[in-house]
Amino acid sequence: MKPSEYLVERLAVSGLPDVKPFLADRMEASAIEEYLPFGFDMLDEWVAVERTIALKAKHVAEDRICGFALTAKPMAGRDQTHVMIMIDPGDRRKGLGSLMDAACVEFFDIPGIKTQAVVTENNPGATAFVEARGYKMIDKNYKMSREPEAFEPVEVEGFSFEAYRGGDPDTNAAIADQNRRLYANERLAYFTAPEEVEKIFESPGRVILLARLEETQEIAGFVDLTKEAFVCNLGVARKFWGTGLAHELSRRTIAMGAELGADRVRSYVRAKNAASIRMQKRVGMEIDETVYHYERDQAAL
Ligand SMILES: CC(C)(COP(=O)(O)OP(=O)(O)OC[C@H]1O[C@@H](n2cnc3c(N)ncnc32)[C@H](O)[C@@H]1OP(=O)(O)O)[C@@H](O)C(=O)NCCC(=O)NCCS
Repeated sequence: MKPSEYLVERLAVSGLPDVKPFLADRMEASAIEEYLPFGFDMLDEWVAVERTIALKAKHVAEDRICGFALTAKPMAGRDQTHVMIMIDPGDRRKGLGSLMDAACVEFFDIPGIKTQAVVTENNPGATAFVEARGYKMIDKNYKMSREPEAFEPVEVEGFSFEAYRGGDPDTNAAIADQNRRLYANERLAYFTAPEEVEKIFESPGRVILLARLEETQEIAGFVDLTKEAFVCNLGVARKFWGTGLAHELSRRTIAMGAELGADRVRSYVRAKNAASIRMQKRVGMEIDETVYHYERDQAAL
């Protein structure tokens, strides 16, 4: 690659109208599905969050967008983050993916930062790319799905359910707090600040199904769903495990998929999380695909 051929720069929300057609028109559907499983609407959410860093690549001479990357500053006290890169098929194997990968890391300026990348089982090009870039496989996940169905809700004694669509600072704070605790040992968690929680509702159709303990009104568990019925998050506070809450939240997720008019209800589960997989299978979710997580230790490069 000639050094001046491409220009990589940070993308603001105002730049999304240019980038979305690039992603929608020029990418294979399968690559988009793999790369942005939450749907395009999530892009607006992500790019609007200060912690997120979106990058675009332009072909300088031809003045066209030819690459996109997404990463986020690690949460406080963490040294891991995530990198997603998408290069126009016509511009691949010219070093642009590598350039964007390096640009993502430069934005953090955190010595020894660990970066993760996700690759599906049938994507040998991306596998070769992450391996060439020094990533090592660390984890395996499953994409699961089923068709939506209008299940009749079942009451769980002592708990109440509601479809929350934002607007209450106390609820936002409680969701952010629970996210922080649920993901304490995970490498990455979005929406761990109350303002970030409120922001997600700017996306049309976004809903969080909440379960509250009736006695105290505290949040006992929730499912975070996009309008395409992609389950971003399903969590039940540890002290309420075994109450049937997770099962009922999962059932209601399938029903909410029907209410949202989605074609499938989709989720993403760690292969190691046998309890969660069992729960999802109980409500008819099936494994569609295996996804591999890679990590690179910058310090080891
Ligand atoms: C994966 C992807 C980002 C790579 O972008 P790229 O600009 O082609 O990457 P580079 O040119 O920097 O490749 C660097 C090295 O990775 C390896 N590599 C990349 N693509 C490869 C392929 N299809 N087959 C074999 N090796 C490959 C090679 O070793 C390459 O070096 P070389 O060309 O000198 O042999 C691009 O193919 C893409 O956008 N794919 C769809 C989106 C995706 O799957 N993203 C997941 C990764 S986060």
